Amino acid sequence: MANSKRFVVLALILMMATIMPLIEARAFFVFGDSLVDVGNNNYLITTARADSPPYGIDYPTRRPTGRFSNGYNIPDFIGQRLGLSGSPLPYLSPELTGQRLLTGANFASAGIGILNDTGVQFVNILRMFQQFSYFEQYQTRVAALIGPDRALELVNGALVLITVGGNDFVNNYYLVPGSLRSRQYALPDYVVFVISEYKKLLMRLYDLGARRVLVTGTGPLGCVPAELALRSVDGQQCSPELQRAAALFNPQLVQILSELNSEYGADVFVGVNTQLMANDFVTNPQAYGFITSKVACCGQGPNNGIGLCTVASNLCPNRDVYAFWDPFHPSERANGIIVDKIFTGSVEYMNPMNLSTIMALDSRV
Ligand SMILES: *[C@@H]1O[C@H](CO)[C@@H](O)[C@H](O)[C@H]1NC(C)=O
Ligand SMILES: *[C@@H]1O[C@H](CO)[C@@H](O)[C@H](O)[C@H]1NC(C)=O
Repeated sequence: MANSKRFVVLALILMMATIMPLIEARAFFVFGDSLVDVGNNNYLITTARADSPPYGIDYPTRRPTGRFSNGYNIPDFIGQRLGLSGSPLPYLSPELTGQRLLTGANFASAGIGILNDTGVQFVNILRMFQQFSYFEQYQTRVAALIGPDRALELVNGALVLITVGGNDFVNNYYLVPGSLRSRQYALPDYVVFVISEYKKLLMRLYDLGARRVLVTGTGPLGCVPAELALRSVDGQQCSPELQRAAALFNPQLVQILSELNSEYGADVFVGVNTQLMANDFVTNPQAYGFITSKVACCGQGPNNGIGLCTVASNLCPNRDVYAFWDPFHPSERANGIIVDKIFTGSVEYMNPMNLSTIMALDSRV
């Protein structure tokens, strides 16, 4: 009896395993900058790229992929937990065709910001309006594959992640002293302007069919090794200007998300407090098993924070004990910690709810 029950369960599991690939897993779409780019910039003529060693040194292939990480980044860890085989492919990848389109796509491009004039020095990158127009093109391609109704269902049912905004400070307002934007706006007014542009982008995303969108705030911008090297007097204290920018930006972002949710009458947009998430290991690295959050694993100069991470840079032997992989980007293990908090965080971290709760809710509809 027990054995036959076990047999039935086993048979069911085997059946599920064979049926599952036919039922599409929830699709996953990613928009934004280098924190979530998985290789679009490899296909572009730009200096904002991570396609040479030692990038990817801890990736399963041990080779650079275009991720600004020693291994996985945030979309990879989310994708794995969604039950996808990993992150969706970069939209510009020639391998993203046929059935592979149905698990989603990543449109992110290193160097971009909310504003079109952010990252001008990187020349040819996918700015937000281009990422969205590729998303439209994607939907046309998927509609040709499975029909317009199922294509819309796939998009409406998808999880979306958008990570953008840090570069509007680092690679625009604060890029050079006396930048165009800093002469045009005092910081608080600039933040109001950037946030109002961000709101338009999010409304566009809704119009394009997104119905569950994780929206990350900026991290502790002033505490990354690049800023410690560049702006801090002692290489230890976070840059007050950039910290002020993040402190102004993040609460206003949460505010527009809740405005949009009440306009749409649903919890479409979920605020991810990456500042708090990263602050935890930035202020107390030892508690997370890091030896430092002030020195990048790969780089040169003070804090290993100057210039790019290249094959000629200093490289730490154990990437897992560094919170920052390069002067701007978290290490693979730090990315994993952030994603843990995305899934399980309390309401201060995930507003109005964490991804575990979202997955449970959405699986019931
Ligand atoms: C950014 O540029 C595109 C293309 O030129 C334009 O359609 C869009 O309105 C611009 N966005 C802003 C906020 O200026
Ligand atoms: C997610 O958030 C809810 C509500 O804040 C909380 O009860 C739960 O413990 C969190 N974590 C998980 C894994 O659901």
